[in-house]
Amino acid sequence: MVTEIIKIEGNIHDNTSLDRAAKIIKNGGLVVFPTETVYGLGADATSEEAAGKIYNAKGRPSDNPLIIHIADPRWADEYAYTDSTYYRLAEHFMPGPLTVVMRSRDTVPQKTRGGLDTVAVRCPSNEVARALIEKCGVPIAAPSANLSGSPSPTTVSHVIDDMLDRVDMIIDGGDSSFGLESTIVKIDGEDKVTLLRPGKITIEDISSLGIEVTVADAVVDKLGEGEVALSPGMKYRHYAPKAPLVLIDGGMSETANYIKAENHGNIAIIAFSEDVPYFEKELPDAAVYNFSCKSDLEGQAHTIFYLLREIDKKQYDKIYAPLPQKEGIGLALFNRMIRAAAHQIIKL
Ligand code: TXA
Ligand code: MG
Repeated sequence: MVTEIIKIEGNIHDNTSLDRAAKIIKNGGLVVFPTETVYGLGADATSEEAAGKIYNAKGRPSDNPLIIHIADPRWADEYAYTDSTYYRLAEHFMPGPLTVVMRSRDTVPQKTRGGLDTVAVRCPSNEVARALIEKCGVPIAAPSANLSGSPSPTTVSHVIDDMLDRVDMIIDGGDSSFGLESTIVKIDGEDKVTLLRPGKITIEDISSLGIEVTVADAVVDKLGEGEVALSPGMKYRHYAPKAPLVLIDGGMSETANYIKAENHGNIAIIAFSEDVPYFEKELPDAAVYNFSCKSDLEGQAHTIFYLLREIDKKQYDKIYAPLPQKEGIGLALFNRMIRAAAHQIIKL
C-alpha cells in the first residue's frame, strides 16, 4: 500500500484534501489524522471490515476495543445509551480530551468495541479531526497511530516511522498540543464514574462537577496475576521503548550517584531542565535529555512520548527518568511512565 501524506491548508471546511481523506474513510480505508492528544489511526467505526483493518495495521490484539470519535457530543445518542451524567461531562469537557465509556447500541459493530457491550466515545477539540469526522458523517474509530506497544506518536515524523505503507493517507497536522492520550471514564450510574485512564482532564476537574470518581486499580498499580482489567488496553505492556527504562524516585544528586554506581554502559537520562547541567557535569558519558522544568507538568506531558521515541533511535543500554508525582496531570504521566518502565521503579 502506498501512503499519501497531506497537509491541510486554508479553509478546513471547504477543503479538497480533507474531502479526499473523508472519501477514503467512507470507502473503508485507513487515514491517520491529528488530534489534540496524539495522532489517531482512523477508519469508519460503523463498518466491521474497516475497523478490522485497524487491528492489522497496528498489530493490535482484537479484544482491545477502539474509541469512536464524533463531531458533536450529541452524535453519541445514536451509538450509546447516553444519560444526564454523559451530558454534564460533555457540556464541560467536549470537544476535548475526554473519552466516555457507556453501554453500546447495536449500531456499533462488535469489531469496533472489541466484543464488549460498552463503547468508548470521544469528541476531539482538534479542528481538522472534527472537520474530517463531519465530512465522513459517521464516527471514526481510532486508536493511537503507533504500532501496538510503542509510545503514541505526537509528531507526523513519528507517525511516518510506524505507519508508512500501512495506511492509505496520513494528515500532517503539526505537533499534538497535549501529547498524552485522552482521559477515559466509564459511567457507573448517576454522577458516578470510574477513571480508567488519566489524562489532561483530571480527577479534580471531574469531581468539581459533583461527579464521584473512583480510580481503577490498574491506573497506578500493576495488575495482579489473574486480575481482570476494566479497560482491556491496561493489561498490555505499553508505551515501551526498546531499551529498559528505569524510573528513579529520588533527588538529583542521589540519582546521579546511583547511576554512577550502576555503571550500565551507554545510557540516556531524562532530566528536569534545572537538573540538566548537573547531570551533564557528573555523568559526562551519558546523553542527557531535557524533560521540561520540574513544575511544568504540561511541558513534561507534551515531551515524554516524543523523547522516548527519539531516545529509542539511538540504541542505549538503559534509560533513566524521574518518577512523576501523581497530582493533577502528573497522574497521567505517572500512569504512562510506569508502563513504559514495565514497573521498574528505584526508590532512593
Ligand atoms: O487520546 C486518545 O484517546 C487517542 C486519540 C487518537 O483519540 N486514542 C487512543 O486510543 O488513545 P487507544 O486505542 O490507543 O486507547 C484507547 C484505550 C484502550 O486502552 C482501550 O482498551 C480502551 O481505550 N477502551 C476502548 N473502548 C473501551 C471500552 N468500551 N471499555 C473500556 N475501555 C475501552
Ligand atoms: Mg494507544
